[in-house]
Amino acid sequence: MEKKKLLVTGGAGFIGGNFVQYMVNEFPQYDIYNLDLLTYAGDLTKHRQVKKKNNYHFIKADIADRKFIISLFEKEKFDYVIHFAAESHVDRSISDPSIFVQTNVLGTQILLDASKQFGISKFLHVSTDEVYGELDFDPTTFFTEETPLQPNSPYSASKASSDFLVRAYHETYGLPINITRCSNNYGPYHFPEKLIPLTISRVLNNEKVPIYGDGKNIRDWLHVYDHCAAIDLVLHQGVNGEVYNVGGHNERTNLEVVKTIIRTLGKSEDLIEFVTDRLGHDKRYAIDPTKLERLGWKPTFNFETGIAQTIQWYIDNKEWLEQIISGEYKNYFKNQYSVKQKL
Ligand code: NAD
Ligand code: TYD
Repeated sequence: MEKKKLLVTGGAGFIGGNFVQYMVNEFPQYDIYNLDLLTYAGDLTKHRQVKKKNNYHFIKADIADRKFIISLFEKEKFDYVIHFAAESHVDRSISDPSIFVQTNVLGTQILLDASKQFGISKFLHVSTDEVYGELDFDPTTFFTEETPLQPNSPYSASKASSDFLVRAYHETYGLPINITRCSNNYGPYHFPEKLIPLTISRVLNNEKVPIYGDGKNIRDWLHVYDHCAAIDLVLHQGVNGEVYNVGGHNERTNLEVVKTIIRTLGKSEDLIEFVTDRLGHDKRYAIDPTKLERLGWKPTFNFETGIAQTIQWYIDNKEWLEQIISGEYKNYFKNQYSVKQKL
């Protein structure tokens, strides 16, 4: 296979980190450049093994630093850009939306400018199903690629804005692009501010698990490995200019997810604590992945096999989790949850 130079932004985060490891191993002939600012969500200890490989490179930088990004593209002449870097947590976007616009909108526009100026052959923008807004509880309705974008949170609004910019650079300047919109991910190296790793972490420590509202909101869960494989497929075989939804029909209420984790770890449901709901809490997400399946994608995990593997991973990698929850995370948890009332 041909040698290629890939720029992966956000490769120290959860999904980008899993993708970097996937690509370094699957494509030894590719040079992988992981560009990441190492915000609270970025962590390089996960790449201890991968960094020994000579096709892996790390660059600490801000995607919103125009001067640096342009000079990097000029020097490295990347073939592909796979863009994960973002502020990614809905709750943080409700507390302070500004950084979401700065990173997710402005940062993406700067990468698009650099990609256009230096003629890359594919810009793959990793987006989310949350740009479509919410579905009601009718189980026969799904997000398709034609569903209008109606984002409800500052996070999803910033991602939708970046999706529109990516589309516009394709329509206006002919930049070769794809957009993927995936459902909620879970798996190894997931930062414990999100529901699944937060629950695993707290149940392992016999701590209460906060469920927002009545716990009946539904998310469609996909193991991060299957998301990485979908991105690989779209990168190599996606039709230029097209959007692909990614999801494996694993809808669960939040309460079901938390109960599954508690049961698997052999703990008591008394750990569940219902707390004040999230502002603007989207009811339900559910993906129709038919278009991606036609391209040849099939998930390898269902929710039962994926969650069992993930729980075991957290048990086997307790030091990683301990290191994350011992620092600044403690302040975050206190600030985020102390204002919530027990229901
Ligand atoms: P994450 O928060 O775990 O990681 C984000 C990474 O981006 C971190 O390493 C962080 O340091 C880096 N970063 C942040 N600001 C940066 C900047 N200005 N310059 C350079 N690097 C910066 O996020 P994640 O969950 O891995 O999500 C990755 C992407 O996938 C995001 O674009 C997100 O919208 C999308 N996505 C996430 C999910 C999910 O369930 N987590 C689902 C669908 C799509
Ligand atoms: P989250 O993991 O933050 O992902 P997203 O908001 O992007 O879907 O939340 C998943 C669901 O879990 C969402 O409906 C909110 C809910 N939730 C809780 O009930 N308690 C929590 O402590 C967190 C973080 C989320």
